[in-house]
Amino acid sequence: MSVEAFRIVGGKKIEGTLKVEGSKNASLPIFIATLIEKGVYVLKNVPSLMDIRTLIKLLESLGLTIEKLDENSYKIINDGIKNIEASYELVKKMRASFLVMGPMLANGGKAKVSLPGGCAIGARPVDLHLKGFEALGAKISIDHGYVQGEVEKGYLQGSKIILDFPSVGASENIIIAAVKAKGKTVIENIAREPEITDLCNFLNKMGAKISGMGTGRLEIEGVEKLIPCEYSIMPDRIVAGTFIIASIMFNGTIKIDGVEPECLESFLVKLSEMGLQYEFDSNGLFIVKSKIEDMTGTKVTTMPYPGFPTDLQSPLMTLMCLVNGTSEIKETIFENRFMHVPELNRMGANIIVEKNIAIIKGIKEFSAAKVMASDLRAGAALVLAALKSDGETIVNRIYHIDRGYESLEVRLRAVGGNISRIKEEI
Ligand code: UD1
Repeated sequence: MSVEAFRIVGGKKIEGTLKVEGSKNASLPIFIATLIEKGVYVLKNVPSLMDIRTLIKLLESLGLTIEKLDENSYKIINDGIKNIEASYELVKKMRASFLVMGPMLANGGKAKVSLPGGCAIGARPVDLHLKGFEALGAKISIDHGYVQGEVEKGYLQGSKIILDFPSVGASENIIIAAVKAKGKTVIENIAREPEITDLCNFLNKMGAKISGMGTGRLEIEGVEKLIPCEYSIMPDRIVAGTFIIASIMFNGTIKIDGVEPECLESFLVKLSEMGLQYEFDSNGLFIVKSKIEDMTGTKVTTMPYPGFPTDLQSPLMTLMCLVNGTSEIKETIFENRFMHVPELNRMGANIIVEKNIAIIKGIKEFSAAKVMASDLRAGAALVLAALKSDGETIVNRIYHIDRGYESLEVRLRAVGGNISRIKEEI
């Protein structure tokens, strides 16, 4: 069997501007939220990614009509949900598909959604989503791998919900469910990620009454009707972070368009601790002013927002390999998110993992090797390492990378990277 891989010849000077695309993790819930009200929507600045194509198939299977207007814009026509079942075949491909449960219940009807199952980085249950739906008055049962939800009264009832953990997905699912509930919903310990604020801004543009975004306590005053609208998705902070690391590795020869520093504070603070100096130029481009040779290791613990994002843990680890001294990363969000470590070690890194802590000792250079992407962000970490390796690296199983980075090889080639897409036998 053959799969697609990147062939990357490291050491080439990379120079130019990289533009950050729209956020994947904001696009997914916003696309799904269009299930909530009949009408015509236009979404702009949507990244061109496998996950978006997977989601479009799922939404079409539920009855929506989706038209691509240009590379990054879509028209979504909702003339009623025609199928209440989100199948295992579609949900297993992408966990975020489980978010269709919220808007389907908000419509006062029934929903049958496959349990997403585990994934490479951990078990990832949906118990918090279900507790939230039950608090809003839905009847939930699990049978044969599917979650069935029913709203007997025909509408959800506003309620007070305290999340045991600020799960991003559970927060989004419950918010979408609650915007049309009767009365007021208060959600405490809600996730504060910027993508959730983007979802709330979209829903508020449609006439929802959500307040408290970014504070950990959200109040939602239920409304009867929403008005479909046009909306432009926020830039992707994880792609921005990945590009910033690439720029640091090449001593600032790459400028980055579309960095929103307020969404990346914990990341930028850690980089500053390591010795990063940066500025925005007169065109708003992010420019690295420091040299990697002058940077040193630090300690990072992944946390819910505004803490350090787990999605930037693996790209940061690649950088930590190349700075002076020792670094430490403690992963607290997902139990199995160090799968890039053996691959980076194959490329000459010096990383030891003890339970959820990785200790990274600085090396001079990565050595080119054949490696395998185990998940999306792990894949990004390997591409970064390959760009700074001493020869030809093959990064296999890049379908993971295609889930979250728009045409990465095309964009890196445009700034001088020696990277091509090839077929590899596995
Ligand atoms: C989202 C992001 C993902 C990011 C993650 C954490 C999307 C599409 N994905 O994933 O890129 O890495 O946030 O920032 O936005 N949990 C439970 N019960 C639940 C739900 C979650 O125990 O009902 C646990 C999970 O197993 C995990 C932790 O909570 O250990 C965080 O998960 P969550 O915040 O829900 O992440 P996702 O929404 O899946």
